[in-house]
Amino acid sequence: MTDLQSLKTRFGIIGNYPALNRALEKAIQVAPTDISVLVMGESGVGKEFIPKIIHGESRRKHQPYIVVNCGAIPEGTIDSELFGHEKGAFTGATSTRKGYFEVADGGTIFLDEVGELPLQTQVRLLRVLESGEFMKVGSSQIQKTDVRIVAATNVNMLNAIHDGRFREDLYYRLNTVQIDMPPLRERKGDIHLLYRKFAVDFAEKYRMPELVLTDDAVNYLEKYPFPGNIRQLRNLVEQMTVVEQNRTVNSVKLAEYIPTTTNLPAVVQKNGAGISNSEFNSEREIMYKILFDMRNDLNDLKSLTSELIKNRGNNDFSNQEKNLINRVFTPETQVQNSGSLLYFENNNANQYQNPTIISEGNDDYDDVEDIEIEETKPDSLSLQNNERELIVKALEKHKGRRNKAAEELGISQRTLYRKIKQYNLED
Ligand SMILES: Nc1ncnc2c1ncn2[C@@H]1O[C@H](COP(=O)(O)OP(=O)(O)OP(=O)(O)O)[C@@H](O)[C@H]1O
Ligand SMILES: [Mg+2]
Repeated sequence: MTDLQSLKTRFGIIGNYPALNRALEKAIQVAPTDISVLVMGESGVGKEFIPKIIHGESRRKHQPYIVVNCGAIPEGTIDSELFGHEKGAFTGATSTRKGYFEVADGGTIFLDEVGELPLQTQVRLLRVLESGEFMKVGSSQIQKTDVRIVAATNVNMLNAIHDGRFREDLYYRLNTVQIDMPPLRERKGDIHLLYRKFAVDFAEKYRMPELVLTDDAVNYLEKYPFPGNIRQLRNLVEQMTVVEQNRTVNSVKLAEYIPTTTNLPAVVQKNGAGISNSEFNSEREIMYKILFDMRNDLNDLKSLTSELIKNRGNNDFSNQEKNLINRVFTPETQVQNSGSLLYFENNNANQYQNPTIISEGNDDYDDVEDIEIEETKPDSLSLQNNERELIVKALEKHKGRRNKAAEELGISQRTLYRKIKQYNLED
């Protein structure tokens, strides 16, 4: 049986934490069988290594290995993607098509984000798992296939079952063996190891000297909870490698790069390679991404503040507070007042002037009443244009493959899917 160290080297897996070792050992152990495996763990913990190991260590290793991201395929087409369809089965089905379960015969299918499968697909999946039988969409002919299933999820499946979104029988069928990937915050001892690996990789990739952490920065990193796990650490190191001028980073500098919310300015991941296209990967675009995320954070803060202001009641603001409100909620972000008006004396954005709150026909601050602040508007048009442009580029680069494009953009496939709709990029 493959030993753990050589497995880690082969797959580029860093870390020695006991729960990580247990997960990898379990994968090696079950690999030669056909048992279904469910990989559980938070986002970014490295779940995708497990099906690769299981396939690579099994008798199926020379047969197809297919990754299906269940959350990224639209509900209307997922049955046809997985099981194929007959010619004429639905509008646009101009020819018969094989599905992944037919193509992967003899091999392994990795069902990522399995919790996102629609219920009607879950029925088909249960059948193929239990009997190896399936039917193409629009066909009544039963076909056989021999596929090993590894599934992964970062959502609580028991909640999904409780809410009626996931079939309990399918869950127990998928979960014959469960492998849990530990979150990075539990693996304190692995954090610096992972940091160094990524720092070396990105230094080489961007042809820059390696970024070294001071002891207090290592300490800081080890205390940080990493909600985005290893993916977040990887993206952090990449950003710092590209953006940071000084090649030694202390805790104060480091803190500037670590978000205080989970809304990360994630940049890239994939096979230790980061973004592979230098044109796409310009520093400017990385900065745009950071800007988008900062802008989102700011909008969230503004919404929160407006809620707090609303709840505080009227006539309850000092002059200094009114000034601040006026300064933060510019006319573009819709400061409104239902009785007397709350607005700027001077709207010229280029010319700085202390904003003033005035009420209609009266310059007296204390007359300001009934302040109502609406939701802040979303990103400005130019930021949206840039975001759209980035998405188009990523889709072009990956020839329309949304999973790759999402990975490159550092966003979830679901978010990408939503944005494709939002920007009408569906063709
Ligand atoms: N132990 C590790 N050593 C080196 N790199 C790792 C390790 N674990 C994870 N990574 C890297 O972190 C990134 C995220 O891992 P992966 O894509 O497997 O996350 P995931 O658990 O599938 O997350 P999600 O639920 O969001 O899909 C990848 O680039 C992966 O190569
Ligand atoms: Mg994944």
